[in-house]
Amino acid sequence: MANLKIQDISKSFDNLKVLNNINLEIKEGELVSLLGPSGCGKTTLLKIIAGLEHPDNGKIYFNEVDYTNVESNKRNAVIVFQDCGLFPHMTIYQNIEFGLKVRGIIKSERRRRSVEMLELMQLEDKGNNYPFELSGGQKQRVALARALLLLPKVLLLDEPFSNLDTNLKEIMREFVLDLQKKLGFTAILVTHDKEEAFIMSNRVAVIINGKLHQFDTPVEIYNRPRTKELSDFIGEANYLDGEVKDGIFYSTLGEFEVAANDKKQALLMVKYDQIQLLKDKTNIQGKITDRKYAGKVTLYKVSVKDQVILNVNSSNDSFKIDDVVYLNISIGINNIY
Ligand SMILES: Nc1ncnc2c1ncn2[C@@H]1O[C@H](COP(=O)(O)OP(=O)(O)O)[C@@H](O)[C@H]1O
Ligand SMILES: [Mg+2]
Repeated sequence: MANLKIQDISKSFDNLKVLNNINLEIKEGELVSLLGPSGCGKTTLLKIIAGLEHPDNGKIYFNEVDYTNVESNKRNAVIVFQDCGLFPHMTIYQNIEFGLKVRGIIKSERRRRSVEMLELMQLEDKGNNYPFELSGGQKQRVALARALLLLPKVLLLDEPFSNLDTNLKEIMREFVLDLQKKLGFTAILVTHDKEEAFIMSNRVAVIINGKLHQFDTPVEIYNRPRTKELSDFIGEANYLDGEVKDGIFYSTLGEFEVAANDKKQALLMVKYDQIQLLKDKTNIQGKITDRKYAGKVTLYKVSVKDQVILNVNSSNDSFKIDDVVYLNISIGINNIY
């Protein structure tokens, strides 16, 4: 059963179409990432789900019930914003109890639940501190505590890790994943960081310029992006010019079997890591024109027939500029644009 259904959602601000007919179904207990470049409409979609914005078109269902016109505080969907939004003049206890107070929960019950939540967040000794006394990661956990205390059916996380430095980011990602496993809430994580989306979720919805381009597993989105725009956004892609005829892609680098209709001017996408560099002869000879060592991989530029420059990611860092190399290209047969 879809816990959350987003149906035909569109939204414009003035003349700017920010969301264009978005459809998504998210299952109970699933953690889905909403990925896209900044300004593509991610926060707007979260706000529509939470009831903080109203769509021009379309409907939002929680457990098959239409919530499109239901007030935000009756929706069971809570947003945690990037800047945490903590009240600076309130203690951590007061901050996280605030939502319960608004909902009329009595003081002893509020305190009991917030003590429990602070323990879960490993912040049991911070209840009487003020936000300015906490680190970035601790503040983030307070914001999570405050949201989770309201027992949301859907937790909406708007770029929650983007202000944290790399180490803390990794720790907080693990923390949120563990928490989600433990508590089983449905979550939507908004991010512009591909790697984060891939690491954190089973399925990723990619929005570019207000349009949903693909809702799929990270492996599919990385290897088989359905549109050229999506492929450009995901990156690490070369494009070969050629023609498709009877299931064969013809190009200056040779012929490749593809699953595509005939097309006079076609592009074949080849990922940086779908090209192997070899010392032994193959049909394609190239020359290294540039190399950049990046730790786990080395990024090479390889010129072929003085016509095509290919980017290649290789775990082999031993090739030098001007070396002659041979290429083995293994393509995804669907990646024709
Ligand atoms: N309340 C608003 N009024 C006018 N324009 C808005 C409003 N909210 C967002 N926008 C515009 O909508 C676009 C998408 O914004 P947003 O959803 O915040 O994108 P993202 O979160 O993906 O960066 C941006 O161009 C932004 O300037
Ligand atoms: Mg945003």
